[in-house]
Amino acid sequence: MKFFMDTADVSEIREGMSIGMVDGVTTNPSLVSQTGRTFRDVIEEICTIVNGPINAEVVSTDTEGMLKEARSLSEIHPNIVVKIPMTQSGMQAVRVLSTEGIKTNVTLVFSPTQALVAAKAGAAYVSPFVGRLDDISKVGMELVEQIDTIYQNYAFETEIIVASVRNPLHVLEAAMIGADIATIPLKVMKQLMEHPLTTSGLAQFLKDWEKVPK
Ligand code: G3P
Repeated sequence: MKFFMDTADVSEIREGMSIGMVDGVTTNPSLVSQTGRTFRDVIEEICTIVNGPINAEVVSTDTEGMLKEARSLSEIHPNIVVKIPMTQSGMQAVRVLSTEGIKTNVTLVFSPTQALVAAKAGAAYVSPFVGRLDDISKVGMELVEQIDTIYQNYAFETEIIVASVRNPLHVLEAAMIGADIATIPLKVMKQLMEHPLTTSGLAQFLKDWEKVPK
């Protein structure tokens, strides 16, 4: 299972890298806006930090605009993956980009049929947003199971990126399903390493160590 980091903050990426948790990065327009930096600046710097897929999203809504942005983004670095929204114009763009060898990640996926269409269009990755489904009282992880079944039924090579991850249970469930990738915020990456019994056990060991004659 690969872990991508869901952030546009380079200091978070460096911290995740230092513990070997970053196989790739996903950004989106909202995450980039939080940095106060230009989009290109951020993406270029991330490419110097992480040697893996770096996901950068288009903001055009028409196919021609998406293609123009995607081609320009793909020139930044060979590891760039272009995030395209799950719309009809988006699927037209994915179809063209796949013939040009530009990898795409179809984003804002909330149904299994959207994921099926994305795979047929030639997407390299598909991003079901589990947290946002949970937010509206739908079980987001059921979507991941459905996509996984469909992709196995037809041996699609499109990889599933479990996105909108909000807590460690999302990562656990994604791993149990066998999702290819989870894209995880730094806060949740840290939570994956924590357990109260580890914390209290270590505190007791250090306390007892003080009694050992030195
Ligand atoms: O990058 C897309 C996705 O992970 C967004 O997450 O928490 O804004 O739903 P969230």
